Amino acid sequence: MMYQQAPYKITYDTTKYPFRDIVSNMLGLSGENRKLEELHLLKQYELVKRENDQKTDWHKLYYDRFVADFRASYLALVDELKKHFGYNEIIYQQIPTFRVQLANGNIAVGEWHKDKTYNHGISELNFWMPFVDTNEFNTIWMESEEDKGDFKAYTVQYGEILVFNGANLFHGNKQNNSDETRVSVDFRLVDPALFIPSENGSINMQVKFDIGGYFAKL
Ligand SMILES: [Fe+2]
Repeated sequence: MMYQQAPYKITYDTTKYPFRDIVSNMLGLSGENRKLEELHLLKQYELVKRENDQKTDWHKLYYDRFVADFRASYLALVDELKKHFGYNEIIYQQIPTFRVQLANGNIAVGEWHKDKTYNHGISELNFWMPFVDTNEFNTIWMESEEDKGDFKAYTVQYGEILVFNGANLFHGNKQNNSDETRVSVDFRLVDPALFIPSENGSINMQVKFDIGGYFAKL
């Protein structure tokens, strides 16, 4: 069953889906610098706020190269998840959202929120997939039931995906007071029977929450 109230983890095969390597290539990392955890040593940015959390050079590289370098593996993973959860068809976010939470004090998203506050549909399910082993400082924090307020760190290893009800549960980041940068993507899957298309759109992607826009069907 795909939908559960509390966040839970699933695993995938990193040999079949070597996203860490794929993303390292997309960001142009090589030699000594080929460590996503050390991205902050290459370039620093001011403290991230809601307005600029999608605006680094690394975000640009990811989105520019997404179709050529990431999409095929992503679609194969979505297809595998579809089967894993027993669906014949699934609605998926066309382009996973890229996040970087730099080491030594930065955050990755600007404020604690429920995704429905940003026009997301309440039947969306969030999949949070880091390309590093996260720690309590650079991972995602959230509550376990809507408005319960029992915030805790959900640490996720490379090869794991955190599945959570991001439309309805408050979630966010703490300051990353570790010396490891976190790089991740997150995407949504929706049961087609529960999907409600919306004329409203994504703040980051500037595209409507409908099929053919933010979402597609597989
Ligand atoms: Fe969110």
